[in-house]
Amino acid sequence: AADRKSEISKRERIIQEMADDLDEELEMELDDARLDELLDETGTLKPTVDRRLYFRELLRLQGELIKLQDWVQSERKKVVVLFEGRDAAGKGGVIKRITQRLNPRICRVAALPAPNERERTQWYFQRYVAHLPAGGEIVLFDRSWYNRAGVERVMGFCSEAEYQEFFKTVPEFERMLIRSGIILVKYWFSITDDEQQFRFTMRIKDPLKQWKLSPMDVESRSRWEAYTKAKETMLEHTHLPDSPWWIVDAVDKKRARLNCIAHLLTQIPYQEVVRAPVTLPPRVRHPDYQRGPV
Ligand code: ADP
Ligand code: AMP
Ligand code: MLT
Repeated sequence: AADRKSEISKRERIIQEMADDLDEELEMELDDARLDELLDETGTLKPTVDRRLYFRELLRLQGELIKLQDWVQSERKKVVVLFEGRDAAGKGGVIKRITQRLNPRICRVAALPAPNERERTQWYFQRYVAHLPAGGEIVLFDRSWYNRAGVERVMGFCSEAEYQEFFKTVPEFERMLIRSGIILVKYWFSITDDEQQFRFTMRIKDPLKQWKLSPMDVESRSRWEAYTKAKETMLEHTHLPDSPWWIVDAVDKKRARLNCIAHLLTQIPYQEVVRAPVTLPPRVRHPDYQRGPV
């Protein structure tokens, strides 16, 4: 009977452990949904991917990402994924779900701030190069060298000559990365004018989200058209045979995340790496430890 009791409590522990794991995603999800995603204007639940379906699919994809990670590590592959798009398009949200269950030593995020005085004098691509992966690493760029064609162009942070030079350099730069063995995938997160307006309004109202709203973001609202033009020029000049853009329809956040992660998995020819079975060594304790945790 005692055995049976301990067997049950062990199972409860395991279930608890799994539930804790799910809570982590739920917490992130609820945080996202605090104001903007749960209800529409009429107070009814907004139609989006059914929550249970979403969680199930996300967990499945995260399981695949772990296989991808194991493959990258064991084959010493190098992966670079660029996330671009308007402010509040949801780049940060998908990046969080990708990294959530991965090893931060293998998969890391590069989200560079505005260049400092010293960096401004360097070759434009130099500070990005410093963040490229070594063998066995995945780097997710939350914004990237494409800043020159977006925010820098629209806000006037670069000259016309620098802008032109950027478009001359990008194709060769990306080809060099690819020839060096990097797998490069580029995503553009696409949202509508109305959706951006809506998300900004929600950020203003939510004390946990206000930090996400930078002066640059506010300014971008009044420059929607300029950003549209910059985006079109960027896609025209940098949608390259070896490094095409993949457009993610990002108005529905959940669909966008699932679509983007599912697509990313198709872009990398990973195979499941068979792990050697792990057994824990027998525990050897000093007699004093029998008294319980110290
Ligand atoms: P985030 O998108 O993380 O909220 P911001 O909205 O402040 O950050 O800035 C958007 C992008 O513009 C960032 O990638 C940032 O590095 C870039 N940026 C901001 N100010 C400048 C500047 N003066 N020169 C060049 N890039 C800038
Ligand atoms: P402006 O110099 O402000 O009159 O803008 C010229 C526009 O030309 C840019 O904003 C781009 O949209 C567009 N354009 C066309 N070809 C290129 C190119 N190769 N590089 C950069 N911009 C280009
Ligand atoms: C996004 O939602 O696209 C990212 O978090 C960037 C931002 O804060 O605008």
